[in-house]
Amino acid sequence: MTKPTILTGIRANSDLTIGNYFGAMLPMIDMAKSRSDECQVNLFIPDLHSFTTPIDHTKLYEQIIHNARVFAAAGLPLDNDNIHIYRQSYITAHSELTWILDCFTGFGEMGRMTQFKDKSSSVGDDRTSVGLFNYPVLMAADILLYNASYVPVGDDQTQHLEFTRDIAERMNARFGELFTVPESVPKQHEFFGKDQGLRIKDLANPNKKMSKSDDSGKGVIFLGDTPGEAVKKIMSATTDDKAEIHFDPANQPGISNLLQILALLRGQQLEETTGEFEGESRYGDFKKVVADEVERFLTDFQAQLTATDDAVILKKLGTSEQAMNEIANETLLRVQRAVGLRPKAE
Ligand code: TYM
Repeated sequence: MTKPTILTGIRANSDLTIGNYFGAMLPMIDMAKSRSDECQVNLFIPDLHSFTTPIDHTKLYEQIIHNARVFAAAGLPLDNDNIHIYRQSYITAHSELTWILDCFTGFGEMGRMTQFKDKSSSVGDDRTSVGLFNYPVLMAADILLYNASYVPVGDDQTQHLEFTRDIAERMNARFGELFTVPESVPKQHEFFGKDQGLRIKDLANPNKKMSKSDDSGKGVIFLGDTPGEAVKKIMSATTDDKAEIHFDPANQPGISNLLQILALLRGQQLEETTGEFEGESRYGDFKKVVADEVERFLTDFQAQLTATDDAVILKKLGTSEQAMNEIANETLLRVQRAVGLRPKAE
């Protein structure tokens, strides 16, 4: 029996935020470490996906390598052979399978994706690329090429995961068993535990998620911010006028977000952190506690980042990419045969 595959990725269009780090990267690394005996773990940098929002192309390549360094600094064990880390564009089957899946995907189906609707409405039709529209199909190819069963992502990505299941089932119904259909979202939650839907919010506007594609960056803490810059952002975070600390995301989104961030920074259960500050009235003192913790975290993290070794990282990327090309090309050939682009197997 082959081991089930777990697969997930973080885009590399700019520096990562503490939202990506605590909400996605650290849980990913913990999961990779704890599951690598029973599963194959594929972590990848979706560099082609970076083009879907405006980026500085002169910095992209360095950004990709930087993100691989961040994985290493955050504790990803590069010497574990069951854990692969690779760059999407180094495995050309991603682009090829995307085109094929495109031709079996409905225009309306893509137009209904909430992330597309949100992102395109803020820039207008002429500045919305077909790539942004097509984003979920490339994501489906990322997953289906490796027969992945488990795909840990934040809840902003669950619609894309559901689309991946739909297109896999559609292709299987039409052409026979081509793809492993990833597990349903509830089953994913069962497998990965309850923190899956965790989302850190923007500090300036705590009703939206902290996102690296946010233009102003005022409410976003990047891993590359100086500790001083990050402290300022925490101290000026939007709160409320209730003058009483409660974990209540609906009515006190700013305070709740800071409690969440503090719990993550301290590695504590949320209840423990919340219990410590519950009912207190001095928001300034509370913010100072969070700011000190952020300052300590960034100082330590940036020291670990400086200590990473590019030679080791590039070697790991190369080995993983070779192994991944084999798996991906096998799936692609199966699809090419099924749709009539290659002769049928003997
Ligand atoms: P990206 O880079 O936008 O987000 C990567 C992961 O981080 C989660 N996330 C957050 N979690 C908590 N708090 C936040 N503020 C926060 N912001 C982002 C996202 O939910 C995501 O899990 N489309 C994917 C990349 C991708 C992918 C794939 C993932 C491309 N192909 C195939 C899995 C499988 C994305 O949104 O990346």
